[in-house]
Amino acid sequence: MLWSSILLSCVVGQVAATLSSSPCLDQHAEQLLHDRLYQTNLRGPRWTGNDNQNTLTSLVATSMEIAGLAVETLNYTLFRWDPRWWSLSLKLTDGTTMGLPTTGYWPYSGDSGLKGATAPVHDAGSYGLFPNQSANPNTLDLTGLPQGGSILFFDNPSPTKNYSQPGYGLLGTSVPARDIPELGNLTNPHWQSAKTLNFTAIKELGVSAVITSWVHTSDENGALQYLPNDGAVGNGTLYDVPALFVGNSTGETIRQLVGSGKVQSATVVLDAPSSWAASSTVIGHLAGKAGTNDSIIIYTHSDGPSIIEENGPILLLAMAEYFAAHPLSINIDFVITTGHMSGHHLNESSWMDERPALMQNAKAAIVCEHFGGEREVLDEKVPIR
Ligand SMILES: *[C@@H]1O[C@H](CO)[C@@H](O)[C@H](O)[C@H]1NC(C)=O
Ligand SMILES: *[C@@H]1O[C@H](CO)[C@@H](O)[C@H](O)[C@H]1NC(C)=O
Ligand SMILES: *[C@@H]1O[C@H](CO)[C@@H](O)[C@H](O)[C@H]1NC(C)=O
Ligand SMILES: *[C@@H]1O[C@H](CO)[C@@H](O)[C@H](O)[C@H]1NC(C)=O
Ligand SMILES: *[C@@H]1O[C@H](CO)[C@@H](O)[C@H](O)[C@H]1NC(C)=O
Ligand SMILES: *[C@@H]1O[C@H](CO)[C@@H](O)[C@H](O)[C@H]1NC(C)=O
Ligand SMILES: *[C@@H]1O[C@H](CO)[C@@H](O)[C@H](O)[C@H]1NC(C)=O
Ligand SMILES: *[C@@H]1O[C@H](CO)[C@@H](O)[C@H](O)[C@H]1NC(C)=O
Ligand SMILES: *[C@@H]1O[C@H](CO)[C@@H](O)[C@H](O)[C@H]1NC(C)=O
Repeated sequence: MLWSSILLSCVVGQVAATLSSSPCLDQHAEQLLHDRLYQTNLRGPRWTGNDNQNTLTSLVATSMEIAGLAVETLNYTLFRWDPRWWSLSLKLTDGTTMGLPTTGYWPYSGDSGLKGATAPVHDAGSYGLFPNQSANPNTLDLTGLPQGGSILFFDNPSPTKNYSQPGYGLLGTSVPARDIPELGNLTNPHWQSAKTLNFTAIKELGVSAVITSWVHTSDENGALQYLPNDGAVGNGTLYDVPALFVGNSTGETIRQLVGSGKVQSATVVLDAPSSWAASSTVIGHLAGKAGTNDSIIIYTHSDGPSIIEENGPILLLAMAEYFAAHPLSINIDFVITTGHMSGHHLNESSWMDERPALMQNAKAAIVCEHFGGEREVLDEKVPIR
Protein backbone atom coordinates (compact mmCIF):
# COMPACT_ATOMS: atom_id res chain seq x y z
CA MET A 1 0.00 0.00 0.00
CA LEU A 2 1.17 3.51 -0.63
CA TRP A 3 0.55 6.64 1.34
CA SER A 4 0.07 10.05 -0.19
CA SER A 5 2.19 11.26 2.69
CA ILE A 6 5.15 9.00 2.03
CA LEU A 7 8.36 10.62 3.17
CA LEU A 8 10.68 7.73 2.63
CA SER A 9 10.08 4.04 2.29
CA CYS A 10 12.33 1.26 3.34
CA VAL A 11 12.52 -2.43 3.82
CA VAL A 12 14.44 -2.29 7.02
CA GLY A 13 15.51 -5.92 7.26
CA GLN A 14 17.22 -5.93 3.90
CA VAL A 15 18.85 -2.56 4.35
CA ALA A 16 20.09 -3.50 7.82
CA ALA A 17 21.52 -6.78 6.59
CA THR A 18 23.87 -4.97 4.25
CA LEU A 19 25.40 -2.78 6.97
CA SER A 20 28.08 -4.59 8.93
CA SER A 21 27.76 -2.40 12.04
CA SER A 22 23.98 -2.48 11.98
CA PRO A 23 21.98 -3.10 15.14
CA CYS A 24 20.96 -6.69 15.60
CA LEU A 25 18.41 -8.49 17.75
CA ASP A 26 19.91 -10.94 20.26
CA GLN A 27 18.66 -14.51 20.57
CA HIS A 28 16.05 -13.63 23.19
CA ALA A 29 14.67 -10.76 21.12
CA GLU A 30 14.56 -12.98 18.02
CA GLN A 31 12.56 -15.62 19.89
CA LEU A 32 10.20 -12.96 21.26
CA LEU A 33 9.67 -11.56 17.77
CA HIS A 34 8.89 -15.04 16.46
CA ASP A 35 6.44 -15.72 19.31
CA ARG A 36 4.64 -12.42 18.84
CA LEU A 37 4.29 -12.80 15.08
CA TYR A 38 3.07 -16.37 15.41
CA GLN A 39 0.56 -15.61 18.17
CA THR A 40 -0.72 -12.47 16.46
CA ASN A 41 -1.28 -14.48 13.30
CA LEU A 42 -3.56 -16.81 15.29
CA ARG A 43 -5.75 -13.79 16.05
CA GLY A 44 -6.60 -12.36 12.66
CA PRO A 45 -7.62 -10.64 10.50
CA ARG A 46 -7.18 -7.23 12.09
CA TRP A 47 -9.79 -5.14 10.30
CA THR A 48 -9.96 -1.54 11.50
CA GLY A 49 -11.72 -1.42 14.85
CA ASN A 50 -12.23 -5.16 15.36
CA ASP A 51 -11.19 -6.91 18.58
CA ASN A 52 -8.12 -8.42 16.92
CA GLN A 53 -6.75 -5.05 15.89
CA ASN A 54 -7.52 -3.49 19.26
CA THR A 55 -5.79 -6.41 20.98
CA LEU A 56 -2.68 -5.91 18.86
CA THR A 57 -2.46 -2.15 19.44
CA SER A 58 -3.08 -2.53 23.15
CA LEU A 59 -0.37 -5.23 23.49
CA VAL A 60 2.13 -3.11 21.54
CA ALA A 61 1.29 0.08 23.50
CA THR A 62 1.70 -1.62 26.87
CA SER A 63 4.91 -3.38 25.80
CA MET A 64 6.39 -0.06 24.65
CA GLU A 65 5.52 1.41 28.04
CA ILE A 66 7.25 -1.50 29.76
CA ALA A 67 10.30 -0.88 27.56
CA GLY A 68 10.44 2.67 28.92
CA LEU A 69 8.81 4.72 26.15
CA ALA A 70 6.31 7.51 26.79
CA VAL A 71 3.22 6.11 25.10
CA GLU A 72 0.11 7.96 24.02
CA THR A 73 -2.99 6.57 22.30
CA LEU A 74 -5.19 8.67 20.01
CA ASN A 75 -8.64 7.13 20.23
CA TYR A 76 -11.21 7.23 17.45
CA THR A 77 -14.67 5.95 16.69
CA LEU A 78 -15.39 4.65 13.21
CA PHE A 79 -18.39 3.22 11.40
CA ARG A 80 -17.29 -0.36 10.91
CA TRP A 81 -18.90 -2.54 8.22
CA ASP A 82 -18.83 -6.17 9.24
CA PRO A 83 -19.66 -8.74 6.52
CA ARG A 84 -20.62 -11.98 8.29
CA TRP A 85 -22.60 -14.40 6.07
CA TRP A 86 -23.03 -14.03 2.33
CA SER A 87 -24.44 -16.31 -0.35
CA LEU A 88 -26.00 -16.28 -3.79
CA SER A 89 -28.77 -18.27 -5.45
CA LEU A 90 -30.75 -18.20 -8.69
CA LYS A 91 -34.38 -19.20 -8.93
CA LEU A 92 -34.79 -20.77 -12.36
CA THR A 93 -37.90 -20.75 -14.53
CA ASP A 94 -38.08 -24.55 -14.28
CA GLY A 95 -38.88 -24.14 -10.56
CA THR A 96 -35.46 -25.21 -9.21
CA THR A 97 -33.08 -23.09 -7.16
CA MET A 98 -29.36 -23.08 -7.82
CA GLY A 99 -26.75 -22.12 -5.22
CA LEU A 100 -23.64 -20.43 -6.61
CA PRO A 101 -20.19 -19.97 -5.10
CA THR A 102 -19.07 -16.42 -4.38
CA THR A 103 -15.55 -15.08 -4.03
CA GLY A 104 -16.26 -12.12 -1.74
CA TYR A 105 -18.06 -8.82 -1.33
CA TRP A 106 -17.75 -5.16 -2.26
CA PRO A 107 -16.43 -3.01 0.62
CA TYR A 108 -19.11 -1.00 2.39
CA SER A 109 -21.65 -1.95 -0.30
CA GLY A 110 -24.58 -2.54 2.04
CA ASP A 111 -26.43 -4.93 4.31
CA SER A 112 -29.18 -7.16 2.96
CA GLY A 113 -29.78 -8.96 6.26
CA LEU A 114 -30.09 -12.74 6.20
CA LYS A 115 -33.25 -12.75 4.08
CA GLY A 116 -31.31 -11.12 1.25
CA ALA A 117 -32.48 -9.07 -1.73
CA THR A 118 -34.47 -10.88 -4.43
CA ALA A 119 -35.23 -9.51 -7.91
CA PRO A 120 -34.91 -10.35 -11.62
CA VAL A 121 -31.38 -10.11 -13.04
CA HIS A 122 -30.23 -7.55 -15.60
CA ASP A 123 -26.97 -8.29 -17.43
CA ALA A 124 -25.21 -4.94 -17.82
CA GLY A 125 -22.24 -6.36 -19.74
CA SER A 126 -18.69 -5.47 -18.79
CA TYR A 127 -17.54 -2.70 -16.45
CA GLY A 128 -14.71 -1.54 -18.66
CA LEU A 129 -11.64 0.59 -18.16
CA PHE A 130 -10.20 3.68 -19.79
CA PRO A 131 -6.72 3.23 -21.29
CA ASN A 132 -5.30 4.75 -18.10
CA GLN A 133 -6.95 1.84 -16.22
CA SER A 134 -9.48 3.92 -14.31
CA ALA A 135 -13.09 2.70 -14.33
CA ASN A 136 -15.30 3.73 -17.24
CA PRO A 137 -18.92 3.70 -16.01
CA ASN A 138 -20.24 4.47 -19.50
CA THR A 139 -19.46 0.91 -20.52
CA LEU A 140 -22.29 -0.53 -18.39
CA ASP A 141 -25.57 -1.14 -20.20
CA LEU A 142 -28.24 0.21 -17.87
CA THR A 143 -31.02 0.34 -20.46
CA GLY A 144 -34.12 -1.80 -20.22
CA LEU A 145 -33.88 -2.59 -16.51
CA PRO A 146 -36.83 -4.73 -15.31
CA GLN A 147 -39.72 -2.70 -13.89
CA GLY A 148 -40.23 -3.08 -10.16
CA GLY A 149 -36.56 -3.50 -9.27
CA SER A 150 -33.61 -5.59 -10.36
CA ILE A 151 -30.31 -7.14 -9.43
CA LEU A 152 -27.51 -5.88 -11.62
CA PHE A 153 -24.98 -8.35 -13.02
CA PHE A 154 -21.79 -7.39 -14.84
CA ASP A 155 -18.29 -8.69 -15.30
CA ASN A 156 -15.55 -6.65 -13.81
CA PRO A 157 -11.99 -6.74 -15.13
CA SER A 158 -9.38 -5.45 -12.69
CA PRO A 159 -7.09 -2.62 -13.64
CA THR A 160 -3.83 -3.93 -15.07
CA LYS A 161 -0.71 -1.77 -14.86
CA ASN A 162 2.65 -2.00 -16.55
CA TYR A 163 5.19 -1.51 -13.78
CA SER A 164 8.03 -1.84 -16.26
CA GLN A 165 7.19 1.63 -17.51
CA PRO A 166 9.37 4.54 -16.39
CA GLY A 167 8.19 6.14 -13.15
CA TYR A 168 7.90 2.96 -11.14
CA GLY A 169 10.48 1.36 -8.87
CA LEU A 170 10.98 -1.93 -7.08
CA LEU A 171 11.54 -2.24 -3.35
CA GLY A 172 12.81 -5.12 -1.28
CA THR A 173 14.36 -7.24 -3.98
CA SER A 174 17.80 -7.51 -5.48
CA VAL A 175 16.35 -8.84 -8.75
CA PRO A 176 16.34 -6.17 -11.49
CA ALA A 177 12.88 -5.17 -12.73
CA ARG A 178 13.71 -6.36 -16.27
CA ASP A 179 14.08 -9.93 -14.95
CA ILE A 180 10.49 -9.96 -13.62
CA PRO A 181 8.34 -10.02 -16.77
CA GLU A 182 5.09 -10.19 -14.71
CA LEU A 183 5.66 -6.53 -13.81
CA GLY A 184 4.79 -5.64 -17.39
CA ASN A 185 1.20 -6.78 -16.90
CA LEU A 186 0.27 -6.80 -13.24
CA THR A 187 -3.38 -7.25 -12.30
CA ASN A 188 -3.40 -6.52 -8.61
CA PRO A 189 -6.48 -7.52 -6.62
CA HIS A 190 -6.45 -4.60 -4.25
CA TRP A 191 -7.15 -2.11 -7.03
CA GLN A 192 -10.52 -3.77 -7.45
CA SER A 193 -11.92 -1.79 -4.50
CA ALA A 194 -10.70 1.47 -6.03
CA LYS A 195 -12.84 0.80 -9.11
CA THR A 196 -16.05 2.01 -7.60
CA LEU A 197 -19.49 2.79 -9.02
CA ASN A 198 -22.06 5.51 -8.55
CA PHE A 199 -24.23 3.39 -6.29
CA THR A 200 -26.61 6.31 -5.71
CA ALA A 201 -27.39 6.38 -9.41
CA ILE A 202 -27.98 2.64 -9.73
CA LYS A 203 -30.14 2.61 -6.59
CA GLU A 204 -32.30 5.32 -8.15
CA LEU A 205 -32.76 2.98 -11.12
CA GLY A 206 -34.30 0.41 -8.76
CA VAL A 207 -31.23 -1.81 -8.33
CA SER A 208 -31.45 -3.60 -4.98
CA ALA A 209 -28.22 -5.63 -5.19
CA VAL A 210 -25.23 -6.28 -7.45
CA ILE A 211 -23.45 -9.44 -8.60
CA THR A 212 -20.12 -8.79 -10.21
CA SER A 213 -17.84 -11.32 -11.85
CA TRP A 214 -14.13 -10.88 -11.50
CA VAL A 215 -12.65 -11.72 -14.87
CA HIS A 216 -8.97 -11.90 -15.93
CA THR A 217 -8.11 -13.99 -12.92
CA SER A 218 -8.86 -17.54 -11.88
CA ASP A 219 -11.70 -18.27 -9.43
CA GLU A 220 -9.08 -19.40 -6.92
CA ASN A 221 -7.09 -16.17 -7.22
CA GLY A 222 -10.26 -14.13 -6.88
CA ALA A 223 -11.41 -15.89 -3.72
CA LEU A 224 -11.64 -13.56 -0.72
CA GLN A 225 -9.31 -10.99 -2.25
CA TYR A 226 -10.95 -8.27 -0.26
CA LEU A 227 -9.07 -5.13 0.68
CA PRO A 228 -11.22 -2.17 1.69
CA ASN A 229 -8.91 0.65 0.67
CA ASP A 230 -11.91 2.53 -0.60
CA GLY A 231 -15.44 2.51 0.75
CA ALA A 232 -18.58 4.62 0.74
CA VAL A 233 -17.63 8.27 1.09
CA GLY A 234 -18.08 9.84 4.51
CA ASN A 235 -18.30 8.90 8.16
CA GLY A 236 -21.25 6.61 8.92
CA THR A 237 -22.23 5.71 5.38
CA LEU A 238 -22.79 2.65 3.20
CA TYR A 239 -23.45 2.55 -0.53
CA ASP A 240 -26.67 0.77 0.44
CA VAL A 241 -26.66 -1.70 -2.46
CA PRO A 242 -25.32 -5.04 -1.19
CA ALA A 243 -22.84 -6.38 -3.75
CA LEU A 244 -21.12 -9.75 -4.10
CA PHE A 245 -18.20 -10.89 -6.22
CA VAL A 246 -18.19 -14.21 -8.03
CA GLY A 247 -15.32 -15.83 -9.92
CA ASN A 248 -15.11 -15.77 -13.70
CA SER A 249 -16.53 -19.27 -14.22
CA THR A 250 -19.59 -18.57 -12.03
CA GLY A 251 -20.02 -15.29 -13.88
CA GLU A 252 -20.04 -17.14 -17.19
CA THR A 253 -22.73 -19.50 -15.83
CA ILE A 254 -24.92 -16.59 -14.72
CA ARG A 255 -24.52 -14.79 -18.03
CA GLN A 256 -25.43 -17.88 -20.00
CA LEU A 257 -28.52 -18.69 -17.86
CA VAL A 258 -29.76 -15.09 -17.91
CA GLY A 259 -29.12 -14.80 -21.64
CA SER A 260 -31.17 -17.93 -22.38
CA GLY A 261 -34.11 -16.68 -20.27
CA LYS A 262 -33.80 -19.41 -17.64
CA VAL A 263 -33.49 -17.11 -14.60
CA GLN A 264 -36.60 -15.90 -12.81
CA SER A 265 -34.76 -14.07 -10.01
CA ALA A 266 -31.55 -13.94 -7.99
CA THR A 267 -31.22 -13.68 -4.23
CA VAL A 268 -28.17 -11.87 -2.87
CA VAL A 269 -27.55 -12.40 0.83
CA LEU A 270 -24.94 -10.14 2.39
CA ASP A 271 -25.51 -9.98 6.10
CA ALA A 272 -23.22 -7.12 7.08
CA PRO A 273 -24.27 -4.91 9.96
CA SER A 274 -22.40 -1.73 10.78
CA SER A 275 -21.63 -0.41 14.21
CA TRP A 276 -19.55 2.29 15.84
CA ALA A 277 -16.23 0.80 16.86
CA ALA A 278 -13.23 2.06 18.81
CA SER A 279 -9.76 2.04 17.31
CA SER A 280 -6.48 3.69 18.32
CA THR A 281 -3.33 5.15 16.88
CA VAL A 282 -0.35 4.49 19.17
CA ILE A 283 2.55 6.92 19.56
CA GLY A 284 5.63 5.81 21.48
CA HIS A 285 8.29 8.41 22.25
CA LEU A 286 11.82 7.29 23.00
CA ALA A 287 14.09 10.03 24.31
CA GLY A 288 17.57 10.22 22.78
CA LYS A 289 20.80 10.96 24.65
CA ALA A 290 21.31 14.44 23.16
CA GLY A 291 18.34 15.91 25.01
CA THR A 292 17.14 17.93 21.99
CA ASN A 293 13.69 17.96 20.36
CA ASP A 294 15.03 16.43 17.15
CA SER A 295 13.44 13.13 16.24
CA ILE A 296 13.07 10.43 13.64
CA ILE A 297 9.53 9.25 12.99
CA ILE A 298 9.11 5.53 12.33
CA TYR A 299 5.64 4.98 10.96
CA THR A 300 3.49 1.96 10.13
CA HIS A 301 -0.18 0.92 10.20
CA SER A 302 -1.86 -1.66 12.44
CA ASP A 303 -4.98 -2.74 10.51
CA GLY A 304 -5.36 -5.20 7.66
CA PRO A 305 -6.20 -8.69 6.42
CA SER A 306 -3.05 -10.69 7.18
CA ILE A 307 0.13 -10.80 9.21
CA ILE A 308 2.28 -9.68 6.26
CA GLU A 309 0.08 -6.64 5.65
CA GLU A 310 0.07 -5.40 9.25
CA ASN A 311 3.12 -6.87 10.99
CA GLY A 312 4.63 -3.37 11.28
CA PRO A 313 3.56 -2.76 14.90
CA ILE A 314 5.38 -5.90 16.06
CA LEU A 315 8.57 -4.97 14.20
CA LEU A 316 8.40 -1.40 15.51
CA LEU A 317 8.05 -2.79 19.03
CA ALA A 318 11.20 -4.89 18.50
CA MET A 319 13.02 -1.74 17.33
CA ALA A 320 11.68 0.25 20.28
CA GLU A 321 12.92 -2.34 22.75
CA TYR A 322 16.32 -2.47 21.04
CA PHE A 323 16.79 1.31 20.98
CA ALA A 324 15.49 1.68 24.52
CA ALA A 325 18.39 -0.56 25.59
CA HIS A 326 20.88 1.00 23.10
CA PRO A 327 19.79 4.65 22.90
CA LEU A 328 20.64 6.90 19.96
CA SER A 329 21.39 10.57 20.44
CA ILE A 330 18.27 11.58 18.51
CA ASN A 331 14.71 10.92 19.78
CA ILE A 332 12.54 8.33 18.02
CA ASP A 333 8.77 8.67 17.65
CA PHE A 334 7.11 5.39 16.75
CA VAL A 335 3.75 6.10 15.12
CA ILE A 336 1.40 3.14 14.62
CA THR A 337 -1.71 4.33 12.86
CA THR A 338 -5.20 2.96 12.45
CA GLY A 339 -7.52 3.69 9.54
CA HIS A 340 -5.41 2.44 6.63
CA MET A 341 -8.00 -0.27 5.81
CA SER A 342 -11.11 1.61 6.88
CA GLY A 343 -12.28 2.48 3.37
CA HIS A 344 -11.47 6.10 4.25
CA HIS A 345 -13.91 6.00 7.16
CA LEU A 346 -11.04 6.95 9.44
CA ASN A 347 -8.20 9.23 8.36
CA GLU A 348 -4.95 7.47 9.15
CA SER A 349 -3.07 10.79 8.91
CA SER A 350 -5.15 12.59 11.57
CA TRP A 351 -2.27 12.38 14.04
CA MET A 352 -0.28 14.83 11.90
CA ASP A 353 -2.71 17.66 12.71
CA GLU A 354 -3.56 16.43 16.20
CA ARG A 355 0.10 16.27 17.30
CA PRO A 356 1.85 18.90 15.15
CA ALA A 357 4.98 18.75 17.32
CA LEU A 358 5.69 15.27 15.94
CA MET A 359 6.01 16.68 12.44
CA GLN A 360 7.83 19.83 13.57
CA ASN A 361 10.49 17.88 15.49
CA ALA A 362 11.05 15.25 12.82
CA LYS A 363 14.33 15.43 10.91
CA ALA A 364 13.40 12.32 8.92
CA ALA A 365 10.64 9.79 8.72
CA ILE A 366 10.73 6.14 7.76
CA VAL A 367 7.45 4.70 6.54
CA CYS A 368 7.55 0.94 6.61
CA GLU A 369 5.23 -2.04 6.39
CA HIS A 370 4.92 -5.61 5.07
CA PHE A 371 8.18 -6.72 6.72
CA GLY A 372 9.45 -9.94 5.21
CA GLY A 373 7.42 -9.45 2.01
CA GLU A 374 9.66 -10.42 -0.87
CA ARG A 375 8.77 -7.81 -3.44
CA GLU A 376 6.97 -4.57 -3.53
CA VAL A 377 6.38 -2.15 -6.37
CA LEU A 378 6.73 1.50 -5.56
CA ASP A 379 4.80 4.10 -7.47
CA GLU A 380 7.31 6.91 -7.60
CA LYS A 381 4.64 9.26 -8.90
CA VAL A 382 3.50 9.56 -5.28
CA PRO A 383 4.81 12.90 -4.02
CA ILE A 384 7.98 12.49 -1.97
CA ARG A 385 8.58 15.34 0.40
C1 LIG B 1 -7.85 5.16 24.60
O1 LIG B 1 -8.30 3.83 24.58
C2 LIG B 1 -7.51 2.97 25.40
C3 LIG B 1 -7.99 1.54 25.12
O2 LIG B 1 -9.38 1.46 25.27
C4 LIG B 1 -7.63 3.38 26.86
O3 LIG B 1 -6.82 2.54 27.65
C5 LIG B 1 -7.15 4.81 26.98
O4 LIG B 1 -7.36 5.27 28.28
C6 LIG B 1 -7.89 5.73 26.01
N1 LIG B 1 -7.23 7.02 26.01
C7 LIG B 1 -7.89 8.14 26.07
C8 LIG B 1 -7.05 9.38 26.02
O5 LIG B 1 -9.11 8.19 26.14
C1 LIG C 1 -8.31 8.47 -17.02
O1 LIG C 1 -8.95 8.70 -18.24
C2 LIG C 1 -10.28 9.20 -18.14
C3 LIG C 1 -10.87 9.26 -19.54
O2 LIG C 1 -10.00 9.89 -20.40
C4 LIG C 1 -10.28 10.56 -17.47
O3 LIG C 1 -11.59 11.04 -17.32
C5 LIG C 1 -9.67 10.39 -16.08
O4 LIG C 1 -9.57 11.64 -15.44
C6 LIG C 1 -8.29 9.76 -16.18
N1 LIG C 1 -7.83 9.46 -14.84
C7 LIG C 1 -6.60 9.69 -14.43
C8 LIG C 1 -6.28 9.33 -13.02
O5 LIG C 1 -5.77 10.18 -15.15
C1 LIG D 1 5.61 -2.79 -20.39
O1 LIG D 1 6.53 -1.77 -20.57
C2 LIG D 1 7.79 -2.23 -21.00
C3 LIG D 1 8.74 -1.05 -21.00
O2 LIG D 1 8.22 -0.01 -21.77
C4 LIG D 1 7.64 -2.89 -22.36
O3 LIG D 1 8.90 -3.39 -22.77
C5 LIG D 1 6.66 -4.04 -22.24
O4 LIG D 1 6.41 -4.60 -23.51
C6 LIG D 1 5.36 -3.55 -21.68
N1 LIG D 1 4.52 -4.71 -21.40
C7 LIG D 1 3.26 -4.81 -21.87
C8 LIG D 1 2.54 -6.06 -21.50
O5 LIG D 1 2.74 -3.97 -22.54
C1 LIG E 1 -24.19 9.90 -8.72
O1 LIG E 1 -25.52 9.84 -9.13
C2 LIG E 1 -26.35 10.78 -8.48
C3 LIG E 1 -27.76 10.48 -8.86
O2 LIG E 1 -27.89 10.28 -10.24
C4 LIG E 1 -25.90 12.17 -8.89
O3 LIG E 1 -26.71 13.14 -8.25
C5 LIG E 1 -24.46 12.36 -8.45
O4 LIG E 1 -23.97 13.58 -8.90
C6 LIG E 1 -23.60 11.25 -9.01
N1 LIG E 1 -22.27 11.33 -8.39
C7 LIG E 1 -21.17 11.38 -9.08
C8 LIG E 1 -19.91 11.44 -8.28
O5 LIG E 1 -21.15 11.37 -10.29
C1 LIG F 1 -2.02 -9.01 -19.83
O1 LIG F 1 -3.03 -9.54 -18.99
C2 LIG F 1 -4.31 -9.56 -19.58
C3 LIG F 1 -5.28 -9.99 -18.52
O2 LIG F 1 -4.90 -11.21 -17.97
C4 LIG F 1 -4.30 -10.48 -20.80
O3 LIG F 1 -5.55 -10.45 -21.42
C5 LIG F 1 -3.23 -10.00 -21.76
O4 LIG F 1 -3.11 -10.91 -22.82
C6 LIG F 1 -1.88 -9.85 -21.08
N1 LIG F 1 -0.97 -9.22 -21.98
C7 LIG F 1 0.29 -9.60 -22.10
C8 LIG F 1 1.09 -8.86 -23.10
O5 LIG F 1 0.76 -10.51 -21.44
C1 LIG G 1 -13.61 -17.38 -17.90
O1 LIG G 1 -14.59 -18.39 -18.02
C2 LIG G 1 -14.74 -18.84 -19.38
C3 LIG G 1 -15.89 -19.85 -19.39
O2 LIG G 1 -15.75 -20.79 -18.36
C4 LIG G 1 -13.43 -19.45 -19.87
O3 LIG G 1 -13.57 -19.79 -21.23
C5 LIG G 1 -12.33 -18.41 -19.72
O4 LIG G 1 -11.10 -18.99 -20.07
C6 LIG G 1 -12.26 -17.91 -18.32
N1 LIG G 1 -11.26 -16.86 -18.25
C7 LIG G 1 -10.35 -16.79 -17.27
C8 LIG G 1 -9.38 -15.67 -17.35
O5 LIG G 1 -10.30 -17.58 -16.35
C1 LIG H 1 11.34 21.74 22.41
O1 LIG H 1 9.98 21.44 22.63
C2 LIG H 1 9.45 22.14 23.74
C3 LIG H 1 8.04 21.61 23.97
O2 LIG H 1 7.31 21.54 22.75
C4 LIG H 1 9.47 23.64 23.45
O3 LIG H 1 8.97 24.33 24.56
C5 LIG H 1 10.89 24.06 23.16
O4 LIG H 1 10.93 25.39 22.76
C6 LIG H 1 11.51 23.22 22.08
N1 LIG H 1 12.91 23.52 21.93
C7 LIG H 1 13.48 23.79 20.78
C8 LIG H 1 14.94 24.06 20.80
O5 LIG H 1 12.83 23.84 19.72
C1 LIG I 1 -17.70 9.70 13.00
O1 LIG I 1 -18.97 9.93 13.55
C2 LIG I 1 -19.09 9.51 14.90
C3 LIG I 1 -20.54 9.62 15.31
O2 LIG I 1 -21.05 10.85 14.94
C4 LIG I 1 -18.14 10.32 15.77
O3 LIG I 1 -18.23 9.87 17.10
C5 LIG I 1 -16.74 10.14 15.27
O4 LIG I 1 -15.87 10.97 15.96
C6 LIG I 1 -16.63 10.43 13.79
N1 LIG I 1 -15.32 10.01 13.36
C7 LIG I 1 -14.58 10.75 12.56
C8 LIG I 1 -13.27 10.16 12.22
O5 LIG I 1 -14.94 11.83 12.14
C1 LIG J 1 -6.36 13.59 6.85
O1 LIG J 1 -5.50 14.17 7.80
C2 LIG J 1 -4.47 14.97 7.23
C3 LIG J 1 -3.53 15.40 8.31
O2 LIG J 1 -4.17 15.67 9.49
C4 LIG J 1 -5.09 16.13 6.49
O3 LIG J 1 -4.09 16.91 5.90
C5 LIG J 1 -6.02 15.59 5.43
O4 LIG J 1 -6.68 16.65 4.79
C6 LIG J 1 -7.05 14.66 6.03
N1 LIG J 1 -7.79 14.03 4.96
C7 LIG J 1 -9.11 14.02 4.94
C8 LIG J 1 -9.73 13.33 3.77
O5 LIG J 1 -9.79 14.53 5.80
